Amino acid sequence: MTTETPVIPVFPAAATMEKRKSVRTYARTPIRGEDRRAIMDYLADETLLRGPFGGQAAVEWVDAGQEAREESGKGLKLGTYGFIRNPQAYLAGCIPASEQAVLEFGYTFQRLILFATSLGLGTCWLGGSFTRKSFARELSLAPGHIIPCITPLGYTHDKPRLMESTIRFMSKADQRKPWNELFFDGAFGRPLTAEAAGELHKPLEMVRIGPSASNRQPWRLVLSPDRRQVHFYLKQTLGYSAKLGFDMQRIDIGIAACNFELACRELGLQGSWHRQDPGLAPREPMLHLLSFAFS
Ligand SMILES: Cc1cc2nc3c(=O)[nH]c(=O)nc-3n(C[C@H](O)[C@H](O)[C@H](O)COP(=O)(O)O)c2cc1C
Repeated sequence: MTTETPVIPVFPAAATMEKRKSVRTYARTPIRGEDRRAIMDYLADETLLRGPFGGQAAVEWVDAGQEAREESGKGLKLGTYGFIRNPQAYLAGCIPASEQAVLEFGYTFQRLILFATSLGLGTCWLGGSFTRKSFARELSLAPGHIIPCITPLGYTHDKPRLMESTIRFMSKADQRKPWNELFFDGAFGRPLTAEAAGELHKPLEMVRIGPSASNRQPWRLVLSPDRRQVHFYLKQTLGYSAKLGFDMQRIDIGIAACNFELACRELGLQGSWHRQDPGLAPREPMLHLLSFAFS
């Protein structure tokens, strides 16, 4: 495990989280050289792809624009089952197949997605709607490694397709669970109101508006009574993503951790992550995955 602190490129954290939404229809405009370079520089910095507990991800750029695909001689097809239209590239993640790596990937890939958003690029977390085989071929995946998720990249088309609007409607993509279902004050069973959150209001709101698989928002957070710690729990949907062989909802918790930490840092609130179970008694089955301790 490393103690090296990544130097994160500067971008407005909360404003970018508020701007991000899944983009499934892209303009045919190729990605500008400067935006491509910025992403490539990011991907080349290993510390930026390292999770809060040192878990290392690799992320590769895969060209997807028609011209680039023809030039590459690799064939046109990179499958997304028609979910994504006109992507100009993809970013595909690659990690060792372990529960911890999956959680940490959520954290690192969300930070990358936010960075891309801050450049004006559209993205969409994809964990199910892509053919893993076609991407595994592109990446020459090492044994024991998986591609947990990918994102398309490109500039947003001004008119979303009917399919895109239908997906948003079906997954209630513009809705989020209310505070009292997600956040607790000192103990489970004591819902935290937005008014009582004080300086943690913004970081918690950034967790709430984050993306999650099927928009299930499986994060449940409990503030310690002295408010020096925030405990992150996963309320699992049993059997969700079982076919994939890894728990996609752990990625959602990594995303929540990323949004929380970046929003805290922006407010000057520093802290670090640990995995000691606080021993709280949830009222329904839940997994404690990590905690943030303010310094
Ligand atoms: C881990 C993860 C996996 C996802 N997988 C897919 C997917 O396979 N296909 C898809 O269309 N959207 C996928 N999404 C996008 C979610 O449906 C979307 O984030 C959610 O509905 C909220 O909408 P928003 O991103 O526009 O805020 C995924 C999101 C996450 C976080």
